[in-house]
Amino acid sequence: MSKVKLRLLSKQTLFHLSLIVMLGFAWPTRGHADTRVEDFDSIKLYTISNTSGMTIKVTNYGAIITSIMVPDRDGKLADVALGYNRVEDYINAVDKPYFGAIVGRYGNRIAKGAFTLNGEQYSLAVNNGPNHLHGGVIGFDKVVWTAAPVGGENAIELSYLAKDKEEGYPGNLRISVTYRLTDDNAIVVEYLAETDKATPVNLTQHTYFNLQGEGEGTILDHQLMLNADRYTPVDESLIPTGELAAVAGTPFDFTEAKAIGRDIGKEHQQLTFGGGFDHNWVLNAGPQVDGLTLAARVYEPSSGRQLEILTSEPGIQFYCGNFLDGRLQGKSGKPYEHRGGFCLETQHFPDSPNQPNFPSTILEPGEKYESTTVFKFTAR
Ligand code: BGC
Repeated sequence: MSKVKLRLLSKQTLFHLSLIVMLGFAWPTRGHADTRVEDFDSIKLYTISNTSGMTIKVTNYGAIITSIMVPDRDGKLADVALGYNRVEDYINAVDKPYFGAIVGRYGNRIAKGAFTLNGEQYSLAVNNGPNHLHGGVIGFDKVVWTAAPVGGENAIELSYLAKDKEEGYPGNLRISVTYRLTDDNAIVVEYLAETDKATPVNLTQHTYFNLQGEGEGTILDHQLMLNADRYTPVDESLIPTGELAAVAGTPFDFTEAKAIGRDIGKEHQQLTFGGGFDHNWVLNAGPQVDGLTLAARVYEPSSGRQLEILTSEPGIQFYCGNFLDGRLQGKSGKPYEHRGGFCLETQHFPDSPNQPNFPSTILEPGEKYESTTVFKFTAR
């Protein structure tokens, strides 16, 4: 029988905190421009283990998955998630990588931070060049969630109330995200949300994976399959043009598994815009497993670790750490180099509120936002 092991590490966090203050490093105080924390003691770290040797750690700051320990083909464990040991490192990380967090209210970009809904114009925080990215200046990754273990299960539920007008969005939005670790080494992520006013919602999980282990070089040799015949090309500010373009014959074709690095250096305007792969793929409708689409499969040859992603979402953002540059040092002190991790963010398409041809992301009062994504690990 698996057991939820919840460890509340506020004491340890406090210890780190006072150490930081003693050493004179900048510590974000209440009211820090880039985070909203009323009480640092309310930030906890939870450990969940299963019977197959896998352990994940989750904090209620940003609903961040801070660690994913997974066996390789010989049973050797490595932490395959980029991240930090201390909450202050998440808060202070340069260039805001969103390591491991739930991003929202809208994952990815909304052009110029503007959209019209039911005849009303809305202006959101512009925090990425001319655009709005990942919910704004203080998105869901930078707030403290309420955490509750799910009784009798290897799971934790995190909830958050995003207030009307928060980052410019309409409506009070109640969100809950449950992370469930199964005994067959899957992390099941279930999202629920309800609103009292029509609003765009697009939640996603922003873990950066390196299946060799965090800090162990680039992910360019990982072999990726994406179950998508089309993707959404972007302009130079990474806003979709509205086209659903065929991947066939382009570097964006991952329908057969290939090394991420194989075509990344090819001449292609879209690769120039993204600085590599940083695009949304349009998932094929099938095959379905238990009502979810197999979206992606990533295999790392040296360790034998494999990650499969299944989802109820129509798209997946594949971002291969193009903005990492070695300045961020992770939890084991190793620098996270350029393309040292990849994200596979299941989602609706970027900028949907301004793109009439994309599936709608508008949640109406009385409706339920429900979304599920599974990250399944194996080794061979
Ligand atoms: C986006 C990137 C962005 C990264 C970190 C990804 O989801 O697609 O463009 O740089 O998140 O913010």
